[in-house]
Amino acid sequence: MPLPMESRSMTRQEEFREDFLSFLIKDHREIESMFSWWERAPLDQRDDLKRNIIKKLVQHSFLEREVLYPSTRKLPRIDSHKIAKEFLDEHHDVELKLDIINSHCCSTDMQLINEHMMSVISETRAHMRHEEEFLFPLLRSAIASDFWIEEGRDINMLLKLAPTRPHPLTPSRPPLSTVAGIAAGMVDKMVVGVKERLHVV
Ligand SMILES: [Fe+2]
Repeated sequence: MPLPMESRSMTRQEEFREDFLSFLIKDHREIESMFSWWERAPLDQRDDLKRNIIKKLVQHSFLEREVLYPSTRKLPRIDSHKIAKEFLDEHHDVELKLDIINSHCCSTDMQLINEHMMSVISETRAHMRHEEEFLFPLLRSAIASDFWIEEGRDINMLLKLAPTRPHPLTPSRPPLSTVAGIAAGMVDKMVVGVKERLHVV
């Protein structure tokens, strides 16, 4: 059986019917399916799956940092900065664990990786549920649908700029997060290129 796909960009057809928040919800379902796969995966598939989960979560996080939380800070009549900070703190906690997972190898450190992955899975599930039940409805009712459609059109471009590995020290607010995130993305792609040329994973 094939592993769940590691990342997804929108097809032209999807670009015209899916807005930014709908894309995030669909991405949540893909993340959930990767988590379920991890919980059942045989040991010899975990290295590939680990890499796919890390890349998916890091790219998803980049999209949310760039668009979702800056929009959250603009919400009227609530303590929007506090809410955005709480969500971003949860991203930071997960990214710290992903960084540890990323720096260890499944064949020698499986127990440590498994412990951290189980806590990433449980924290991310609660975080996604909170976003879908609380934050997304708030954003939908407060910000015009045109904005989400417009941001949805930029997703493919943002995904091309996004990092592929955890960088937990990246600042959390645009424009600094954008610059640092894009720089990290460029470094990640260079590292992969060098590794491929040296034939190491
Ligand atoms: Fe999030």
